Amino acid sequence: MAQASNGPGRLPTEAELTRAGLGLAVEGPVARITISRPERRNAMTGRTWTTLAHIGHTLPADVRIVVIAGEGDIFSAGIDLGMFTPEGVDGERSMVGGILDGSSTGADVEEYIAGLQEGFLWLRRPDLVTVAAVRGHAIGAGFQLALSCDLRILADDAKFCMKEPALGLVPDLTGTKPLVDIVGVHRAVEICLTARRVGAQEARELGLAELVVPADELPGAVDDVVAALLATNAEAAAATKALLRQAAGNTLEEQAAAERRAQVARLTALAGTMAADNR
Ligand code: ACO
Repeated sequence: MAQASNGPGRLPTEAELTRAGLGLAVEGPVARITISRPERRNAMTGRTWTTLAHIGHTLPADVRIVVIAGEGDIFSAGIDLGMFTPEGVDGERSMVGGILDGSSTGADVEEYIAGLQEGFLWLRRPDLVTVAAVRGHAIGAGFQLALSCDLRILADDAKFCMKEPALGLVPDLTGTKPLVDIVGVHRAVEICLTARRVGAQEARELGLAELVVPADELPGAVDDVVAALLATNAEAAAATKALLRQAAGNTLEEQAAAERRAQVARLTALAGTMAADNR
């Protein structure tokens, strides 16, 4: 059940979440997002992603962990293929309608896609640890959503597939960078351009999964990881995630300097706590 937000603005209402095919439960420091359109194998629409962005913008400030899972035995069948029909899905803007009738320029479509990408980008925020709990298929946008999270915990029946090139598209929901960062450009080319399924054990070997467990043990395994993450100091966790996220783009010297700056901030905070305790 969504609760009132302490963050900027209000969380999506239950009606807005339902329309977007999402569920949200916020309990203290943990937010659980469920992709919930079981009759469409949890396929997602533009509204799913703009609502995900809305969640990201309005989560209570004390939320530290975000878990994303699919309802039932599938994570997500990716984009709702109705989005590629001229009429779209449930009155939602179609991906091709504006191009077909000439009402959208390329720049308009890029701006629209940028809005959809917002639903994925916030999952990298340093103050959050984001966890994808994946059962069954995670196809296309579903795979990219899992790639946007910090950690992927997979059931042994999980299957990733970057289907976009097989449909004449490119993956455009921020998944290409994490995929290349994790598996390297050559394996990423092979996975994307064959659009083959990557099973859970292979995903583990490639670094696409931090953990693989039997399907019925997935909720418990996720809870264990969440508990371990919550046991770490929140500010230190955020500062460390920020450091780790920038490491690949930094030289050794830049990263060493970033470590020093971050540590000075941590030591200053610790000293402040000690001084307060001694008062
Ligand atoms: N968009 C819209 N409807 C979907 C989607 C989808 N992506 N995936 C499944 N459905 C619907 C089916 O049309 C079907 O509807 P119906 O009951 O009205 O006939 C229902 O969900 C069940 O689908 P099945 O195919 O019968 O389910 P099954 O368990 O056999 O297969 C699977 C599941 C493998 C996910 C299969 O449905 C599939 O391959 N879906 C398409 C995946 C896809 O191409 N996604 C787009 C990737 S590109 C991107 O995300 C950007």
